[in-house]
Amino acid sequence: MAELVGVFASSHGPMIVRSWQTIAPKWRQILTTAFTELGRRIKAARPDVLVVISPDHWVNFSMDNLPSICVGVGETHDGPPEPWFKEFPHRTLAGHPQLASHIVEQALEHDFEPAVSHHLALDHGFCIPVWKAGLDPLPPIVPIVFNDLEPPFPAVRRCYAWGTMLADAVARFPGKLRVAVLATGGLSHSIGEPTMGEIDEAFDRECIRRFEAGDPPALFDFLNRRLPAAGNGAAEVRNWVAAHGAARGKGFDLIKYDPIPDVYVGCGFASWKV
Ligand SMILES: [Fe+2]
Repeated sequence: MAELVGVFASSHGPMIVRSWQTIAPKWRQILTTAFTELGRRIKAARPDVLVVISPDHWVNFSMDNLPSICVGVGETHDGPPEPWFKEFPHRTLAGHPQLASHIVEQALEHDFEPAVSHHLALDHGFCIPVWKAGLDPLPPIVPIVFNDLEPPFPAVRRCYAWGTMLADAVARFPGKLRVAVLATGGLSHSIGEPTMGEIDEAFDRECIRRFEAGDPPALFDFLNRRLPAAGNGAAEVRNWVAAHGAARGKGFDLIKYDPIPDVYVGCGFASWKV
């Protein structure tokens, strides 16, 4: 049977790549140290497959076709299409269709109806964390896209339930496989709206405190009250909630948090107890 060997989270603000050279050296150092520690923890878990939960930033989907959750079941995925992300060394990324299809089947058996894609392009949301974490060789990826970009969003409690379903699905996979989950996005940030560039540090720190406490109902209550006013990018915290569910709400260990004005994002990095 497969084994869930680690659950992780990382921010993925695009300025981390597209403006790296103009970020203040102090923040570059902090980000480098955080990504390196994230990578150390992922490598220590020795995953054969990485399930990465990220939004899609209008690369695969649009307002005409916007699934709440989509699982990439293909043999391969495309590397990031963003023209400013050419440094990423993988133009083709290996998938894991057996595990991905199993997750979809388990989801359908357990009251979820995800969309599926046999060919996804994995944008900076997927690729910044795996690149900056220095995962080499890069394990096959099962991408799971959450709609964090445009309302209506998946309910917070359903994101948590998706995570617990995912962990159950991994445990039921009929093959010897070490599986890690990486949720990417958040924490607070605001893109293309009047509050562009604002970081809600109070929200971020309370969010982290509640993930550390590991009390899912209290976390849902907090997020339902505060998420809508923490900047549109904060909706990506839903991915962290799914990771929290995969870790059975046991609480997590913060690697680093800083509100980094140069990348417009409250940047958080963490791993859960599994
Ligand atoms: Fe994003």
